[in-house]
Amino acid sequence: MPETYSLVEATMKVIQDRRSIRSYTQELVSDQHLDMILEAARQAPSGENAQPWRFIIVKDPDTRNKLGAVAGGGSGRRFTSEFVTKQMQERFSSLEDEAKKKAAFEKLTSGQVSAFLANAPVNIVVCGKKDVWDMPFDTSASIENILLMVTALGLGACWVIAPCFDIRDEERIKLLLNIPEGFKAVSIISIGHPTRAHRPRPRMAINQLVFSERWGMPYYKESV
Ligand SMILES: Cc1cc2nc3c(=O)[nH]c(=O)nc-3n(C[C@H](O)[C@H](O)[C@H](O)COP(=O)(O)O)c2cc1C
Repeated sequence: MPETYSLVEATMKVIQDRRSIRSYTQELVSDQHLDMILEAARQAPSGENAQPWRFIIVKDPDTRNKLGAVAGGGSGRRFTSEFVTKQMQERFSSLEDEAKKKAAFEKLTSGQVSAFLANAPVNIVVCGKKDVWDMPFDTSASIENILLMVTALGLGACWVIAPCFDIRDEERIKLLLNIPEGFKAVSIISIGHPTRAHRPRPRMAINQLVFSERWGMPYYKESV
C-alpha cells in the first residue's frame, strides 16, 4: 500500500471490496488471521454494551457437512415459500429467458445454493443471548466487522442465515453444537480463500435511498 494511502481510503476500499464469497480453495485459514477476525468481532458496538454474542469456530469436516445440510434444507424451504407467495417470480420478472428462469427457480428451491458451508475451511457460528433486547442488531454489527476484517486479510466470507431462521433448524444446530439454553445460533459465517474474483452485486443509487429532511424529499447537499 503506498504511504499516501489514507486510512479513509483504505477503509472505503475494504467496504467496497467486500463480496459474499461462496466457493473456497482447500487452503486453511491461519490462526493468526482467525484471531484478527475474532478481535474485530469483539470490538463491535452493542446496545448497553451487552456483548450478547458468542462464536463457535467449526473446522471439523463432519460438523461442517451437517451444517451444510441444515443450511441447504433451510434455504430450500425459504425459497419454496418465496416461490409459492410469488415473491421469487417478482424478483426475477426482468429475466425474459423462461428456461433460465425455470433453472434458477429449481436451483434456489432445491436448497443447494446454501450448502456451500460444508466446503468452507472455517465456519463461525454466531450465537446470541436470546433475552438481550438488541441482540439481532448487536450480532449483526459483530458480523459486519468479521466480514470487513476478512476482506482486509484477502480472505472471502459469506453471511449465511439459511440454517438459522427456522425454529426446527435452530434446534438441530443447538443439539449439534451443544448450544446452551438462553442462546441461539443467529447466523453462520463461512470463511476461506476465494477460488476466484467476484464482480460486485448491484446497489441502489444514493438518490433512491436518501432523502433530505422528510421522506421523499430529494437529497441535497450544502456546500460545506
Ligand atoms: C442478513 C443476511 C443474510 C444472508 N443470508 C444468506 C444465506 O443464507 N445464504 C447466502 O448464500 N447468502 C446470504 N447472504 C448474502 C447476501 O445474499 C449478499 O450479501 C447479497 O446478495 C449482496 O451481495 P454481496 O454481499 O456480494 O454484496 C446474506 C446476507 C445478509 C446480510
